[in-house]
Amino acid sequence: MKLTIKTQNTGIAQSEIEALRGDAGKALDRLWSGREPMTGWVQAPSKNKGELLEKVLAMADVIRNEAELLVVIGIGGSYLGAKAAIEALPKYERGIPVRFLGNNLCSEYFLETIEEVKNKKTVVCVISKSGNTMEVQTAFEVIKPYMAEKYGSQEEAARRILAITDAEKGSLRAEAIEKGYTTLEIPDDIGGRYSVFTAAGLLPMAVSGIDIRAMLEGAAECAASPEWDLAAADYAIARFLLQKQGKEVEFLEMCHSRLGYFGEWLKQLFGESEGKEGGGLLPTTLTFSTDLHSMGQYLQQGRQIFMETLFVVDNPLKEIPIPSGPQAGRTVGELSDIMVQSVVAAHRAVDIPIVEIHMEKLDAYEYGELLYFLETTCAITAMLSRVNPFDQPGVEGYKAEMHKLLD
Ligand code: PA5
Repeated sequence: MKLTIKTQNTGIAQSEIEALRGDAGKALDRLWSGREPMTGWVQAPSKNKGELLEKVLAMADVIRNEAELLVVIGIGGSYLGAKAAIEALPKYERGIPVRFLGNNLCSEYFLETIEEVKNKKTVVCVISKSGNTMEVQTAFEVIKPYMAEKYGSQEEAARRILAITDAEKGSLRAEAIEKGYTTLEIPDDIGGRYSVFTAAGLLPMAVSGIDIRAMLEGAAECAASPEWDLAAADYAIARFLLQKQGKEVEFLEMCHSRLGYFGEWLKQLFGESEGKEGGGLLPTTLTFSTDLHSMGQYLQQGRQIFMETLFVVDNPLKEIPIPSGPQAGRTVGELSDIMVQSVVAAHRAVDIPIVEIHMEKLDAYEYGELLYFLETTCAITAMLSRVNPFDQPGVEGYKAEMHKLLD
């Protein structure tokens, strides 16, 4: 395993962590028992390394050969995993641009996307597990006539539409059958925010040229390793105990410029899984070193209601030496290492609890490990806190109100 997780700077005694390992172990047993609802994601990387991987790679090949643009329509768990990976990872082979729609209600953004569709050979991939999410339906309805106009008929447009949805349920599945769209499935027992290793995450990533085989390998390796269960358990226990000690916020701090959307993915995972029954650490993101020159003040001297988790990439894929000036002779990467060490020293000096998560490098394999590790951490923390990690009654609440108003 290539990630390194450092939990020794949380201020929590090792004995306190060890005291809860039994409970964390029970949570892991439940996740792997096959009896808990919505836990299909635990086996998804190893399961999907076979037939699904080959199918997705073949489809991605066809799309890349036929189109200049993939428009992915989805929201929440049905787009963030792919969007984050596409921002973060190198592309190992020729990919085409992927544009995301259906994740906002911004007319200007809709119009910009339509212009792109008019000007480029386009394939549309609509992703919705339920098949009836308002933002997604709206974007799909808006795009369809432009596709029909561009390709001469609804039938020709349908040949360029791919639907990723539940195997049986929902209006998207019904429409896909009626219109003959190509389809892939989001398994019934995997929720949106845990679906990154299903077709919902993998297909857009593959079209963009990401090495999804390596990503699944990394995640499957993490799933198979007891060492990683222990690391996820310890991080989960630290988060759980810090909450009990009164910490209310977790700053998720990205020490790499390409991890911005990964932060959004993680915010959804933690926020939607744990923010229930009046509890849960409020997940919020910062980018370092940018935010050290703004929010750094609050971190050092503001209300100490938070813990920090630093996401560090130890080795840049490419390095740049500093040619002159006070830092001549060093590289930008070396300065980044010094920045991380300085943050830890300064923040520990005022007793801020810090967890560090280090990647050796930001590639598909390690990124797969990282996502799987965090999914496991999240589920364990929620179970220790006695909330269901896999439902989202609050999100459903918004959706219900929206439907009432629309009706
Ligand atoms: O994690 C979740 O379940 C949600 O964020 C959903 O992914 C989001 O609401 C979109 O739902 P759907 O895929 O059904 O359109």
